Amino acid sequence: MNTYQDIYEGWRQDPEAFWMEAANKLDWTTPPSRAFFADQGAYGRWFADGKVNTCYNCLDRHVEGGRADQSAIIYDSPITGNQRSLTFAQLKAEVVALAAALKDRGIAKGDRVIIYMPMVPEAAIAMLACARLGAPHSVVFGGFASAELATRIDDCAPKLIISASCGIEPGRVVAYKPLLDGAIELASHKPEATLILQREQQGCDLIEGRDFDYAEAVQAHKAAGTDVACADVAATDPLYILYTSGTTGQPKGVVRDNGGHAVALHWTMKNIYNVEPGEVYWAASDVGWVVGHSYIVYGPLLAGNTTILFEGKPVGTPDASTFWRVMSEHKVASMFTAPTAFRAIKQNDPDGEMAAQFDLSNLRTVYLAGERADPDTILWLEKVSGKPVIDHWWQTETGWTMAGNPVGIELMPVKYGSPTVAMPGYDLQVLSDEGEELPRGELGNVVVKLPLPPGAFPTLWNAEERFREAYLDEFPGYYKTADAGMMDEDGYLFIMARTDDIINVAGHRLSTGGMEEVIAEHPDVAECAVVGIADEMKGQLPAGFVILNKGVDRPVAEIQGELVQMMRDRIGPVAAFKIAVPVQRLPKTRSGKILRATMQKMIDGEEFKMPATIDDPAILDEIAESWRAYSGRG
Ligand code: COA
Ligand code: AMP
Repeated sequence: MNTYQDIYEGWRQDPEAFWMEAANKLDWTTPPSRAFFADQGAYGRWFADGKVNTCYNCLDRHVEGGRADQSAIIYDSPITGNQRSLTFAQLKAEVVALAAALKDRGIAKGDRVIIYMPMVPEAAIAMLACARLGAPHSVVFGGFASAELATRIDDCAPKLIISASCGIEPGRVVAYKPLLDGAIELASHKPEATLILQREQQGCDLIEGRDFDYAEAVQAHKAAGTDVACADVAATDPLYILYTSGTTGQPKGVVRDNGGHAVALHWTMKNIYNVEPGEVYWAASDVGWVVGHSYIVYGPLLAGNTTILFEGKPVGTPDASTFWRVMSEHKVASMFTAPTAFRAIKQNDPDGEMAAQFDLSNLRTVYLAGERADPDTILWLEKVSGKPVIDHWWQTETGWTMAGNPVGIELMPVKYGSPTVAMPGYDLQVLSDEGEELPRGELGNVVVKLPLPPGAFPTLWNAEERFREAYLDEFPGYYKTADAGMMDEDGYLFIMARTDDIINVAGHRLSTGGMEEVIAEHPDVAECAVVGIADEMKGQLPAGFVILNKGVDRPVAEIQGELVQMMRDRIGPVAAFKIAVPVQRLPKTRSGKILRATMQKMIDGEEFKMPATIDDPAILDEIAESWRAYSGRG
């Protein structure tokens, strides 16, 4: 039996052989002659002379290879009370019909398509139909408002947008169409057409000549049995663009290519998630996030697993037993979600009485990522599920695990608070701010020695310079993860914090800089700072500290309400912005930089050193006082 050490060392000694072996598990239209092409791209490119279609490898290959009648997607929607299962053959038929409808609207290889949809099977079908045509998709999370969608429309200039009439949140129906129309209105780039899925919960009006009915468009092709061949796609052609928060309001378009992505994700299904083809895998996330891309859609389908597409919440749809019910009912072997989901369940069912009511005999392992997994939650989850709970660490940029516990190779001893060890492909190091390698046990910048492995992003969409500046320039020869952490003597990594202004709210990655830009637009605001403060359930919550213009004499509560509404309208409800604290001054360095990290530590009651460069330490006391007054703690 190979150990993790054997496999990791094997990769280190001969990455070419390691990745070519992994690549051979897929069907290529032109197999690559070698794995790595050092002379291409910012740090090299993977499988650059190969051609491969991701949709073919997710669907056709399995239909032809004996899985036609196996469930590919189980849609379980406790929020609407619906369930639907699609076999690989049925899913392929849906994807082909939609691909044909997209072709009718002129979509061809290279054209971008935005997908703005709730968690319905058609969202995955849309992604796969784009992949079939070689048209890069860009999925935008449904919790983002018009302005965020407009920014993405302008950045990737889609020829077409696929959307739905509505999404369903607990207690309310979210009308998507007005948000979509608002975004198209705001954007300078105008898509030629939209395809709208009318949902029975709430329909919408279609604009003549621009909006087309999804069901009608695919029905004609289903009836006619139209076939659409898989486009011949270069391994380095983009499969998708996924926007993620950067340090400003302008999101970064993470590009994922076809070849490296398929190879890497396929490798992870057995080696990290320990599932065999045919088994049921569930990532409880949303297709709008990277976890949804990699592990609701592409990873499980590439490996011939049944994937669950869950439209609901961990609590309230209808209660905290839902996750256990889904795992039991669909015989889930591996499940993956963000720690915040289990914190929500724990709050509602602290003794795990609901879990005990379900047969979890098929479940082997639970995986957590997206934010720090606090030991309390892991210990609770181990106890109530009776299964190993695995923390693993990765980012939108990498698309798959940088540090994890490779259960399919061997279950390594769990150290609480650590996502375990570097995965093959990742040479993880911890550097000082000056770029020196730090001794084991010391806190510093977590970086990856270049090249990044297959599956990780080769660039940002139309922003090569920003890609280099944001990720490669600070530590030459390394990729900067923007996470701070340390590695212990056994090579276990501990991730402590971000080194930039990104915060993590309920597993959702958000930019405090972007929120500050919104607050600053309020006519009564002179200056502001947004910091991520600790929250028991969501991990972090954004808190705005706001200096009002001199002479403003309106009730503060009115302004606070307007700020909350602005954030919902501009970024979206997902920002979860509800805290706006009026202050007189903000703590700054002598050069004028706002000391956000110091404010956060002080509010969270963490130890902090008074920065030597602080201009006026008395301001921190004022902030503490304003916070006490606001939160009623003093
Ligand atoms: N469309 C429209 N609105 C959405 C939305 C969507 N797809 N998703 C979330 N929202 C809204 C919510 O309704 C909520 O609105 P409100 O302020 O009016 O109540 C707001 O955005 C915040 O949503 P969320 O952060 O999801 O908070 P919540 O209180 O509704 O639920 C959790 C909290 C922990 C239960 C939930 O975030 C969760 O399940 N998270 C873990 C799983 C996950 O998605 N992880 C992502 C990466 S793995
Ligand atoms: P995203 O790109 O949305 O997946 O967010 C990536 C960021 O989330 C990382 O840079 C980390 O800051 C944080 N993160 C993800 N997984 C973990 C984890 N297992 N432990 C600690 N932080 C994590």
